Amino acid sequence: MRIDFDPAEMPRREFYKLLTATVVPRPIAWVSTVSEDGTANLAPHSFFNIASVAPPVVQFSSVGRKDTLLNIEATGQFVVNFASEGLFEQINDTATDFPHGVSEFEAAGIDSEPSLRVKPLRVAASPVALECEVHSTVGIGDSVIVFGRVVHAAVSQDVLVDGHPEISRLKPLARLGRDEWGTVGEVRELPRIRHADWQGPASDR
Ligand SMILES: Cc1cc2nc3c(=O)[nH]c(=O)nc-3n(C[C@H](O)[C@H](O)[C@H](O)COP(=O)(O)O)c2cc1C
Repeated sequence: MRIDFDPAEMPRREFYKLLTATVVPRPIAWVSTVSEDGTANLAPHSFFNIASVAPPVVQFSSVGRKDTLLNIEATGQFVVNFASEGLFEQINDTATDFPHGVSEFEAAGIDSEPSLRVKPLRVAASPVALECEVHSTVGIGDSVIVFGRVVHAAVSQDVLVDGHPEISRLKPLARLGRDEWGTVGEVRELPRIRHADWQGPASDR
């Protein structure tokens, strides 16, 4: 038996809680930007994914018009910093609603470093930085999806094995429902099956 939920009949927040508890686990883009007057900004966004391969484009959604979005609209640039386990509480600190003009780098005591191709700073302790130029934005209801063309990726050599980012070294954090966060559990490998090699459904093999 299933229980039915109709978004049209539910308070916005209740359906949001259902969506964010069931679209899980979500990767976290720790997005750094800079305002026109030079204030550095940093905030986590878990409505985040790859949008396109060629050109390489990532996307995240701002629910409402937050400083991150305002800075991106003003400057056209942002950096996605990888959210790893060791940065758990620092990432959460940067989700505090500090007033406009306060830098989360300073308020949360997070060390920065310059980016190579864009103006926003990178998080020094984050193992991967994707430096982005805005490709486009799409408004949907109360949210704005930001698409960013990745113009440079800076990856710490500590997380690379034979030139490839290794999951056991990256140790990503994920966003779950409520105030829950997750880490990676068991990692399994399973190659995709070509049609030429198909031997029937898994349940019959
Ligand atoms: C793990 C995590 C994920 C979040 N994901 C999003 C998101 O996808 N979109 C969003 O608008 N806010 C999200 N937030 C809330 C913002 O980080 C928060 O509103 C922040 O203060 C925005 O900062 P800003 O005004 O400096 O941009 C998230 C918060 C946390 C802790």
